[in-house]
This record gives sequence, C-alpha cells and structure tokens, in this order.
Amino acid sequence: MCAPRAGSEGGACGSTAGRLSGEQVAEFRDQGFLLLPGFASPEEVATLRSRAVQLVTESFDPGDVAAVFSTGEEQRHSRGAMGRYFAESASKVSFFLEEAAFDADKGVLTVASKEEAVNKIGHAMHELDDVFREWSHSGKVQELLADLGYVLPAIHQSMYLFKQPHVGGEVVPHQDSAFLHTSPHLTCTGLWLALDDATVANGCLWALPRSHGALRRRFRVAPGESEASFDAPPPEYDLDAMVPLECAAGTLVVLHGENVHMSHANASAKPRHAYSFHVVEGDGSVQWSPDNWLQRTPDLPFRPIAHVMTPNPTPPHATS
Ligand code: FE2
Repeated sequence: MCAPRAGSEGGACGSTAGRLSGEQVAEFRDQGFLLLPGFASPEEVATLRSRAVQLVTESFDPGDVAAVFSTGEEQRHSRGAMGRYFAESASKVSFFLEEAAFDADKGVLTVASKEEAVNKIGHAMHELDDVFREWSHSGKVQELLADLGYVLPAIHQSMYLFKQPHVGGEVVPHQDSAFLHTSPHLTCTGLWLALDDATVANGCLWALPRSHGALRRRFRVAPGESEASFDAPPPEYDLDAMVPLECAAGTLVVLHGENVHMSHANASAKPRHAYSFHVVEGDGSVQWSPDNWLQRTPDLPFRPIAHVMTPNPTPPHATS
C-alpha cells in the first residue's frame, strides 16, 4: 500500500517518503499546522476509502446504534447509554450517526440509507482493522513522527470521518489536547488525511495560525463523576483569523495538539471523507492522563507504534 510522497526520494515503505525538511518542521512549529500534499497515493486513498465503506455496509446496524455523535456542547455532556457507547468505543470499531440524519424521537433515519447516515467510525480502528492498522503504522508515518520529535510515538485514537453531503455537521473550534491530555507536558499531534478533495464548500478544516500556545480547557472526567465533560466554558476565539485548509485527496494535514481548528457543516452535494488519528509520546516520559475520556480496556492496552507492528518475539525459554 505504501508509495513515495510527491517530491520525495525513495519509493518503498521505510524509505524517505515521510521525511520532513527543516523548513517544514520550522513551519509546523511556527504555525501549528502543516499540509503535506501527496502524502498518500491515489491507491492508498482508494483502499482506505473502500475499506470504510465496506465496514459500514457489513458491520453498521443503525438500529443498534443509539448514539448520535456530535462535537456540539450538549452532546459532549451526554449521559447514560450514549455516554457509555462513546466511552466503550475507545477499544472498539464503533459507528456513530450523523445528528441531522437521525430522528431521535421516531428512531428512524431521515436519509435514504445507512451509508448516508454514518457520521464517523472510531476510535480503535488503527489497531483492530488490518487495513487502517497497516496505513497508520506505515514506515512513512513513523518517519514523519520521528522528524516531529517523537521517541516512541503511540496512536491513542483514530476516526474515519464521513462529513456526508447535505447533513455532515459542524465541528466546533477546539484543541485536540483538550481530549488527548498527557502530563507533565502535552504531546498530542493530530494527523488528518484527506480522502476527498476538501474545500470550503464541502467542509474542509479551518485552522487558527499560531494558536498553539496554551491549552484553554480540558474535556475530562471530574472527581466523583463517571463521564467526561468540559472543565470550562467555550473560549472565545478569533474566528475571522481562521484560514481554510483546502487540499486535494491524499494530503496529510499535521495539527499541533494545541492548534485551534474546526470545520463547517457540509452543505454541498459532495462528501468529504477523511481519516484522522492522534499520537502522543509513548516512551514513558509522560503519563496518559487518567481522567481523559478515552481509556482502553485491559485486553487492549495502549502500545507504541513500533510495538504494534513488531511480531511477538519467541520467548527465550521456548524449546520449539
Ligand atoms: Fe480536532
């Protein structure tokens, strides 16, 4: 599945396909985001896209999914079955409905098919699905993360985002480190791969340049609570200073964990698929915060990329 990035040297997995120049690293550190056109080949884009559609066709039953996902304030404070479904998705390949595609009172879809109603898949597909695991842990992704300064990067979350025509909802301004917190310092980076051409019309990312100075609030499980919520009201951001990150399919958008970004609803007739996953440092120098909403079950512990892709070695005491 691997192919060289346009303009890069080499041509196979483990080559220089994911390498960043010094100028690119400097731009990322200054602006808080970086666009890498052609990071994924057309073949890779088609493979990831078709695999997501296959997952929806074969495994998604809207009747079983009571969760209506939205990053809106009210839904983030959801309680009960929806909150449990969300929390359990940390260790699963779960499906979420688009809010505008589901009549919660009647329990029916408002669009013609489940393929048009799905909002996203999450949040452990980078480990539990073979196709997404291979791409997420590919040599060029590891090279990229090494150039960003990671010692032993670990993917803690993945999402396939559909941003459906006409019903794909808004994602309000946020910082990813609010949801993916490490201490004593923050180490989150978001990798967002465009699987369609992303435009202003179909709901591309918008980012606030140089907004990655400080984390403004957290989404965490407060003492005595069982579900996560924001620990402060929504900050006021300068939305007029946001810039659209229009890009072609195959472009990887690298987002600093404290960069403020958002996307508008998709009012167009075109989809805007994307695959996104988030990385933190896994070398033991930071702790994954125990009050993060996202916690794994004991049978699926967080693992650094290198450990996920390394077959279990033969135990030294094995005799055959
Ligand atoms: Fe985000």
